[in-house]
Amino acid sequence: MRLAVIGCGYVGLVSGSCLAEAGHEVIATDNDGARIATLQAGKIPIYEPNLDKVLDRVVRERRLRFTADCTEAVREADVIFICVGTPPTESGEADLSAIDSVARMIAQESRTPKLVIEKSTVPAQTGEELKRALQVYAKNSGARFRVASNPEFLREGTAVDDFFHPDRVVIGVEEKETEQELRELYRPILEGRFRCPVHKPSCPAAAPEFVVTTIASAELIKHASNSFLGLKISYANVLADLCERLGGNVDEVTRAVGLDPRIGGQFLKAGLGFGGYCLPKDIQAFIKLADRAGIDFGLLKEAERINKQRVDRLIEKVKKALWVMKGKQIGILGIAFKPNTDDIRLAPAIEVIRRLLAEGANVRATDPEAMERARAVFPNLIYSADPLDVARGADALLVLTEWEQFRKLDWKRIHDEMARPLVLDARNMLHPAMMRELGFEYMSFGRPDTVAVMAGH
Ligand code: UDX
Repeated sequence: MRLAVIGCGYVGLVSGSCLAEAGHEVIATDNDGARIATLQAGKIPIYEPNLDKVLDRVVRERRLRFTADCTEAVREADVIFICVGTPPTESGEADLSAIDSVARMIAQESRTPKLVIEKSTVPAQTGEELKRALQVYAKNSGARFRVASNPEFLREGTAVDDFFHPDRVVIGVEEKETEQELRELYRPILEGRFRCPVHKPSCPAAAPEFVVTTIASAELIKHASNSFLGLKISYANVLADLCERLGGNVDEVTRAVGLDPRIGGQFLKAGLGFGGYCLPKDIQAFIKLADRAGIDFGLLKEAERINKQRVDRLIEKVKKALWVMKGKQIGILGIAFKPNTDDIRLAPAIEVIRRLLAEGANVRATDPEAMERARAVFPNLIYSADPLDVARGADALLVLTEWEQFRKLDWKRIHDEMARPLVLDARNMLHPAMMRELGFEYMSFGRPDTVAVMAGH
């Protein structure tokens, strides 16, 4: 079974290289020639832990190769994974134009039957449209296409681990033959027969479930999963607001709530809200899809509104603490939308920085991986790889991404370097007790604030 991956963004790169590592022969292509040249030169255009190890090995062992010639990839493959981007349009609907042009290329270049698999995140019923488009574009070439859906649930920062150890592999199919083919394709993952670059000496035991359903259900499963994650986060953030008003501690509340297995403790971390390339856009696209189907997904609209408010909440806290923001020096710890990635797309930190600059504050920022990308958005900001530089002489320090490195900082030293030891932790990463001991004014979300107790500051 020869596989092709069309679109070498996050999902395409990780899926293609991990499927090659699992023993398949993969040809990967993208219409961005520069990206393919970078990959052919052995460089990876994204920061993703463990991806370099996998890619290096499968390219060296000739199980994965990159080509800028998309038609070559189509002709050579039996199974084609469509992994192109589906960014939001102005109205928030998913832009499917890249999928449409790939369908045209596949239809016109195929000389043998193909199994075409949607791996991009797409609204329900896209599979139907894709099948029709392939037939229309193939005119009378007689080429035979089967279509299937195989959504991805990778998280940035743990994508390689997530691919090899998924909770479930979901396939949407119309034929038994296709189900068999995809079960075969995923057998190494389902049976744990691959060289895991993440776990040494052995991997977690749990085998993923292989979920077989219709194409429309598989498409809905992806949007429904991501949207529910956003719902949980927004619920935790409203709890944080309540805790602030009623004297509770949101970390203790969500831990106890999450101990109920019907609820589960994951994705109940209150803070600055969810960002990134997936959750915000998938929720938007799901709301629009529901609208088109005549259903008002008010629940998700509310989750979105609550999420957008998180930045306002933080700015209110900064204003309350600093009184006047103009001319104040504010340090930023973290820009990426979450730790272990260099991705700043729809990162709440970007909006926070924008607001601080608009208020006339002097901002200095640091992030272990995302400063290069942030420079493109804020070229005039002062950046430093050393958090101490960012804290030196600052009137306030804002923790916007919970990188592990920040937890391990010498907070005593930071206390002494700041003009005013005021920390606003928008990710509830640090321990209030520790910060109080060190004499910080410390604020976070949904947890009791601490005021400076140390004399002489
Ligand atoms: C998400 C889904 O998790 C993944 O399954 C899907 O395939 C792609 O979209 P990702 O975008 O990488 O993955 O990020 P995720 O780990 O889900 O975090 C999303 C955002 O939620 C981040 O901004 C994170 O900081 C925030 N978050 C996460 C919270 O605010 N609280 C939480 O408890 C968890």
